[in-house]
Amino acid sequence: MSDDLGFNKIAGAVLATGLVIVGLNQVATRVYEPEPAAKEGMHVDAVLPDEGPAKPDIPPDWGTVLPVADVSAGQAIFAKCSSCHKPTDENATGPGLNGVLGRKPASHPGFAYSSSMQDFGGKNPAWDFEHVYEFIKAPQKDIPGTKMTFAGLKKPEDRINVIAYLHTLNSSLPIPKPDPAAAAKAAEAAAGPATNAPATNAAAPAKAGAPVATNSVAQAGQPHQAPTSGPAAAPSATPSQTTK
Ligand code: HEC
Repeated sequence: MSDDLGFNKIAGAVLATGLVIVGLNQVATRVYEPEPAAKEGMHVDAVLPDEGPAKPDIPPDWGTVLPVADVSAGQAIFAKCSSCHKPTDENATGPGLNGVLGRKPASHPGFAYSSSMQDFGGKNPAWDFEHVYEFIKAPQKDIPGTKMTFAGLKKPEDRINVIAYLHTLNSSLPIPKPDPAAAAKAAEAAAGPATNAPATNAAAPAKAGAPVATNSVAQAGQPHQAPTSGPAAAPSATPSQTTK
């Protein structure tokens, strides 16, 4: 019996909260409704070209981006890593990163890896470009429980450049051949949803380039042109057309 009462109280509280939220929503709608109407057109124009909510982070085509990546920019970014990592075999707060590309995760001698990193190494034979790209974007999200307490590099180009720098540290990974199809896909994703691609909107040159004779034939069906549609009518048809 008292259980029922308790349940009723809770249910009542939940219901009341829901009602309050619904009520607030309606108040908010009413308060804010009239404002945007005044300059709706401008508002839409201003918002559309902005970057959308979340661009999909499709990994780049490594064969395309690595040969042209900015290694010295990557070395500059490595300053953020070097508070924990040395670009040598020496361990610090983090494991030495000499030769990390192509190395098995959690395998550098003398470093006490987290069990999360060891698990990751059990599933992935080597640090390839893509795994490093994902990991350094948000280490804690990519490998929950990792000891690498680093917020991550949000910008794709920062990650590409720092990977290009890591590649100079005795990487054992070959740079793959460029794959134009994959590169196009990644570029498209980076540019956001491909809504306004005007390439297909080709002009129709048939009208402008069409010979006069064709026009006079086509217009023969129109009532006011029909009577004069002999060979001599062709020249006079041209001016009437330009005035249109
Ligand atoms: C706050 C210190 C810290 C910073 C900054 C940091 N790392 Fe780490 N990193 C670590 C630690 C600690 C580990 C070991 C993680 C584990 O065992 O879970 C690690 C592991 C790694 C690994 C895996 C190495 C292996 O042997 O498996 C890579 C790759 C790596 N870091 C790259 C980077 C890069 C690139 C940067 C800079 C963009 C960076 N780290 C910044 C502390 C850091």
